[in-house]
Amino acid sequence: MIKIAPSILAADPLNLERDVRTAEKAGCDWIHVDVMDAHFVPNLAYSADTVRRLSQVTQLPLDVHLMMDHPETMVDAFLDAGASCLTIHAEADSDITALLAGIRKRGRMAGLALKPGTPLEAVHPYLELTDLVLMMTVEPGFGGQKLDPRVISKIRGLKDAGYTGEIEADGGIREDNLEMLVMNGLSVAVMGTALFGQKDMAECIRRLHGIKNE
Ligand code: DX5
Ligand code: ZN
Repeated sequence: MIKIAPSILAADPLNLERDVRTAEKAGCDWIHVDVMDAHFVPNLAYSADTVRRLSQVTQLPLDVHLMMDHPETMVDAFLDAGASCLTIHAEADSDITALLAGIRKRGRMAGLALKPGTPLEAVHPYLELTDLVLMMTVEPGFGGQKLDPRVISKIRGLKDAGYTGEIEADGGIREDNLEMLVMNGLSVAVMGTALFGQKDMAECIRRLHGIKNE
């Protein structure tokens, strides 16, 4: 069954606890926290303190996505704060191997993310060190964008290469394009605007969980 990870980037920043509790009650599987450094992407979002407070108000795994040039500066802070999965970008200016190994050493899921324009080959050297590969389906930085269909072949390619970790996508995912992503091997869907805009999130999650994996 596809896992749904609501992105709090699309939640009400003045009512995060309320929106996270709504998502948990609605049957969402993970909470996706977009962290941005205003350098790797032209936006700024969420601190480790926010993740620490979130870990006190939800039982859901916190799936933290570091959109940062130098994630090594914050990996320990987000692990200390309670991140269950911590994802760094393959395009970051860091020692990817050491960071992924360090995340796993602390018993958490190590994730590696690719921007839409980065070829799938960029993750090949690291696949053994990851528990999750995150395929950005929009240019990272902002919610509410349109899914980039070019990324579907990267999801398919990773699946066909026999990758056994989680395959996650993030950006522009809606009810009307999720089935096609699942058919191509997606196992975790990050959804922001399409979820927090729902009148009845639980009904929506029931429909999404009903989508058959391939
Ligand atoms: C981009 C962000 C968005 C957000 C979800 O950096 O990561 O992808 O999580 O966006 P929407 O609102 O399109 O689901
Ligand atoms: Zn994200």
